[in-house]
Order: sequence, then structure tokens, then C-alpha cells
Amino acid sequence: MGEHASKQKNLSAYTGTKGTVNISFTLNGKPVVLKTKDVTTPLLWILRDELGLKGTKYGCGIGRCGACSVHLNGRLARACSIPISDTAGHAVNTIEGLSDSSRDLHPLQKAWVQHDVPQCGYCQAGQLMAASALLSSNPTPTDEEIDTHMVNICRCGTYLRIKAAIKSVASAKALQVEELRQMQLVKRHTLIEERDQPQNDMQETNH
Ligand code: FES
Repeated sequence: MGEHASKQKNLSAYTGTKGTVNISFTLNGKPVVLKTKDVTTPLLWILRDELGLKGTKYGCGIGRCGACSVHLNGRLARACSIPISDTAGHAVNTIEGLSDSSRDLHPLQKAWVQHDVPQCGYCQAGQLMAASALLSSNPTPTDEEIDTHMVNICRCGTYLRIKAAIKSVASAKALQVEELRQMQLVKRHTLIEERDQPQNDMQETNH
């Protein structure tokens, strides 16, 4: 979408009367219309104080620590540094919407449990949002790619366990991809055999 079209879309997501502005956006897959007087309020405070989603945490407030990590249109973003006006017409996802199902955890959340990742736990929602953004764009990252992408701060130093958990999900994904590749190879081989079989049968009959 061009810049002009994007601005038009954002403007159409604004309505309101008497000094208030209604901002429309999608939050964890559901449409939200937020009434506000101050469009510069950071998304973090809207999530926590207005919408009751407390999973996104406040750490530094200046976009450095990553405790407030969310996804904006599928990309990693710092909720403390995004004015709510910037969400108009866009899609926001928080830790509360990480799993598709309310009854099942996201594979990363399961890996976090298996690897006993959290210590105090304060930064872990942000860590999970950062990890899921990484695996969405790169399902099988190298160690270096994990190190480059995972820059959220953990004061308990759970970095090694975070990395191990991400790698276990990535390995499972790589295994799935390899199994699918092998199944497709077998299927192709079977199809070729079935295609050639009548010819082989005829050649044997003629001898
Ligand atoms: Fe947003 Fe630290 S609280 S990056």
C-alpha cells in the first residue's frame, strides 16, 4: 500500500466528537473502537489501563528493554513507543492472542514450559512475542540469527534457556519440513512407477 493510501486508511479509522477521537484497529483478531482524548497516549497504557490486557509489561519506557513487545501488522513493535494513533486501521497482537486457541498453548509457550525458561517472569511475555515474530519470518533460524533478533533484556539472565526453547521449536519445524519433503518424494516416485507400469507390462508381454 502506498503512503497516501495508507494515510487515507488511517484517517478513515478516526472518528469522534467533542474533543474525543475514536480509533479503530484490530486487537488479537477482534475489531476495537477506542475512544480517547489524547492520541499520543502510548499503546502500552491503552492495552494495560483501558483494555485490561496486563500481559504486556512496562520496563524502560524508551523502547530499549523489550518488555512491552507486541506485534503491529505481524511485525515486532515496542508498545511503549507507539502512540495509539499509529494503530488506527492496523492489527495489534499481544501475548494474550499469541495462541490461536484458548485451550492450547502456542508451540513457543509449550517450549518455554518444557525448558523451564522463566525465572521472575517479568520480561517473558515480551521475549515470547519477540521469539514468535522471529519464527514467523524465519521458521528455522541459525544460532546467529537468534542472537541478532533476540535483544530483549532479561534481568534474571534466562538467555540460554530462551535460546534452547526457540531452537527446539525451530528443530521441530525443520523436522516437519523434512518429513513433508520425504513424503512428497515418495509420492512422486509412486506416481512415476504407476505411470511407467503399463509400458513395462506391455514390454514383458511382447517378449
Ligand atoms: Fe518498552 Fe522497555 S518498556 S522497550
